[in-house]
Amino acid sequence: MEKEKIIEVKDLIFYYEDKKKVLDNVSFEIYKGEYVTLIGHNGSGKSTLAKLLSYILEPIDGKIYIEGEELNENSIKNIRSKIGIVFQNPDNQFIGSTVEDDIAFGLENRNVKQQEMRKIVKEFATKVGMDKFLNKEPEELSGGQKQRVAIAGILALNLKIIIFDEATSMLDPEGVEEIRNLILTMKKENPELTVISITHDIEEAYLSDRVIILNEGKIYKNDVPNEVFKDEEEMRKIELDIPFVLKIKNELSKRNIIVPSEIKTIEGVAKFLCQ
Ligand SMILES: Nc1ncnc2c1ncn2[C@@H]1O[C@H](COP(=O)(O)OP(=O)(O)OP(=O)(O)O)[C@@H](O)[C@H]1O
Ligand SMILES: [Mg+2]
Repeated sequence: MEKEKIIEVKDLIFYYEDKKKVLDNVSFEIYKGEYVTLIGHNGSGKSTLAKLLSYILEPIDGKIYIEGEELNENSIKNIRSKIGIVFQNPDNQFIGSTVEDDIAFGLENRNVKQQEMRKIVKEFATKVGMDKFLNKEPEELSGGQKQRVAIAGILALNLKIIIFDEATSMLDPEGVEEIRNLILTMKKENPELTVISITHDIEEAYLSDRVIILNEGKIYKNDVPNEVFKDEEEMRKIELDIPFVLKIKNELSKRNIIVPSEIKTIEGVAKFLCQ
């Protein structure tokens, strides 16, 4: 079956006032239902790309298509009903006066009825573990709690495409895992949900369907995780590491123990070795 393109980025060029190219002729495609991770060191242009994809910034040159429709000021209203972004800094995202208002905000814009809205808000607050905080104000929340609220607010909208820009960077390791599992469960329930996750967590990247690496304004790699992380030396050159589990697999392969490529977790490797 032919994969269906949901995002197409063509020859994208972007710079800020200083005219230094942040994105230099970037092109790629994302397919419906994919879980793509976008990685690259600090300042490589990841958040800028996310803002261009949601039209918070306008391209200097090049085009972006969402489901075949060109992203521009005429199409943005329609496209905003398909694509949502959870920002890197949760303070820039908190709009409501309480957690409940904040999660409800996007739903209000979509004219969801009051009673239905309260139900959805409660459901998603519970999913991210914030149901006990519905009446709290943003000042009363920790950074990680604000990130949880921001994630609930986007997930509640039932969008086709969600971009997470380091959306769990302030969560503890259990919290990161919990949210990752929540998103994977939602993707299972709705295989058409497309997720772009911007992350410094290369273990997460290793588990995604595809990894795009940005480096010096250009796409450095765009492939399945096992291909992208194949060459440890090369990764180091662009200040990136390879996943820990892959290091173990590489060490094992030097000892002629070949772990199948589909095994991607430490637990999986351990089980394989104990067979
Ligand atoms: N509002 C702005 N005005 C001017 N320059 C900016 C602005 N925002 C970002 N930049 C510059 O653009 C480049 C890319 O920034 P961006 O935030 O997209 O990087 P990033 O890959 O998301 O980094 P990080 O991993 O730290 O989040 C950086 O050199 C940054 O200094
Ligand atoms: Mg960023």
